[in-house]
Amino acid sequence: MKTLDEIIKSRRDTRHFTSDPVPDAVIEKALQAGHWAPSVGLTEATKYYLIHSAEIKKAVKNLFLEYDQKAAKSTDDELQKAQYQALKLEAIEEAPLGLVICYDRSVLNHFTIGTVGSNEAIKFSAVCAAQNIWLSLTEQGYSMGWVSILNYYQFKKILGLPEHIEPLGYFCVGKPATDYDKQPMLQQLHWKQKSEAPCVTEIKALSLIDEKVKENNPILQKDSKFSAIALQHKIDQKTKPTGSLGILEKLALQIGTVFQTLTPEIKQPHLVVFVADHGIAQYGVSAYPQDVTRQMITNFLEGGAAINVFCKQNKIALSIVDSGVNYDFPSNTKLISAKADKGTHSFLSGSAMSKMQMEFCFAKGAEIVTNIAKQGSNCVGFGEMGIGNTATASVLMSVLCNFSIEDCVGRGTGVTDEKLEFKIDILRKAIENYKGSKDLDSYLTHFGGFEILQMAGGMLEAFQQNMIFLVDGFICSVAFLIAFKKNPEILKNAIFSHQSAEKAHKKLLDYLGVNAVLQLDLRLGEGTGCALVFPIVQSAVAFLNEMASFESAGVSEK
Ligand SMILES: Cc1cc2nc3c(=O)[nH]c(=O)nc-3n(C[C@H](O)[C@H](O)[C@H](O)COP(=O)(O)O)c2cc1C
Repeated sequence: MKTLDEIIKSRRDTRHFTSDPVPDAVIEKALQAGHWAPSVGLTEATKYYLIHSAEIKKAVKNLFLEYDQKAAKSTDDELQKAQYQALKLEAIEEAPLGLVICYDRSVLNHFTIGTVGSNEAIKFSAVCAAQNIWLSLTEQGYSMGWVSILNYYQFKKILGLPEHIEPLGYFCVGKPATDYDKQPMLQQLHWKQKSEAPCVTEIKALSLIDEKVKENNPILQKDSKFSAIALQHKIDQKTKPTGSLGILEKLALQIGTVFQTLTPEIKQPHLVVFVADHGIAQYGVSAYPQDVTRQMITNFLEGGAAINVFCKQNKIALSIVDSGVNYDFPSNTKLISAKADKGTHSFLSGSAMSKMQMEFCFAKGAEIVTNIAKQGSNCVGFGEMGIGNTATASVLMSVLCNFSIEDCVGRGTGVTDEKLEFKIDILRKAIENYKGSKDLDSYLTHFGGFEILQMAGGMLEAFQQNMIFLVDGFICSVAFLIAFKKNPEILKNAIFSHQSAEKAHKKLLDYLGVNAVLQLDLRLGEGTGCALVFPIVQSAVAFLNEMASFESAGVSEK
């Protein structure tokens, strides 16, 4: 019998198999080895599915082919593309047995030891099991090949896996037809050389970070001649009747005042869409199912949503944040991960989140905006998406402003009369059921939404970073309300882009004592109002900087 060391060294990710079947005893022994692997909090959340069916294998192979093409398009150059296409990266149809190793994330619905730091510990446990299985198969003269080049969402769908069961990948199992010269296949084919030794570094001292240090802030444009009176005078001296540029004059005054300069400049505008799921959505308070949240992330990342189009049109950088979507996204996308959890809990009879998650959201929102400021931006727009989030926003508005829930609820994505009544009823019940204290943080923990709190954290930070920030529609204004309750000063830096068609938005704007620039009957969210108002913000800055004054143009004043 081989030693453990020999088994570890000879284990190969295998993509060439003989047609020999895998005896039941072999796979049973290997799966038992998987079962003996460590699991966080002894959760035993790892689940196994076996596949012999040629039809299923063919369907999985088709998924591989689709993503294989996608991967080929992502290669760095034509030579690498040709090398990539020559590689054999799966053996789905040839391998006699298919194995799908999964983890059941529903264990996170209950307290689970070891998951407070990262709920990914459940996934890590399944990976430990996969490695044990790999080693056991090697010891028995068999092998395995991990296939991850798949659309995992489609993969789950075709296997009929329930929402809470997440696959690690498709594993091809069989007798190896080669040992690739006792080295990884990718190395044998000169794709990549595996290093000889592991990368190990000793950390000898604590790294202390003072988050409050804002060194070399590139966005301060301070002008020694600046005063609010001088700025207003400059606006009034432009060749136009006083006040005739209406809201543009107010914007110019606001922007110049924030940047403390008579010649403000908007630099590198950036829009951030925060996305999360809401436990309350399970009661059908939206016209759409929860899964749409996840699907929209894909749409945002692929450039197909309204906000992509308007940002592109107006040259605004766009970032998408997973604030807490009920799905595991691959880590190789441009998505910013700020996941507080996989959706909030329903606040109908319990707390939407823990106090720690609430604090995490404020910190993450701030961190994201800090990073945008560090890149040289002085103007950030906030947008959101999340099925069920008008319900969350309505409840928050009701409890924070002390308005009746009827006054705070609208049709959201467009629910019917009957559903609207139901939405009001369920939210009223949620408020009646609340027995906690009436301070802001307790309300936010109980009724909050991850994306709403991250926007609020982002707005507070945008103010600290001396940025102009654009507020989108109803939900975004509720985030502003939260931030405003924490620091009313932020009002100075906020531009309310549009007044939403969602009924409660007007009431909220009145409560805050502000007017929105646009009224376009929008009710989409995503930050679309911010992107649409941006050219107007630019016009305000442009007239201030470029328009002639009575004096410079030699035009008589009245
Ligand atoms: C999480 C994970 C996913 C992988 N996905 C694929 C895959 O889709 N296709 C493939 O050919 N190899 C895949 N591999 C195999 C690695 O590329 C392979 O492990 C590496 O070349 C080292 O080879 P060895 O396992 O034989 O030492 C995957 C490996 C891991 C750990």
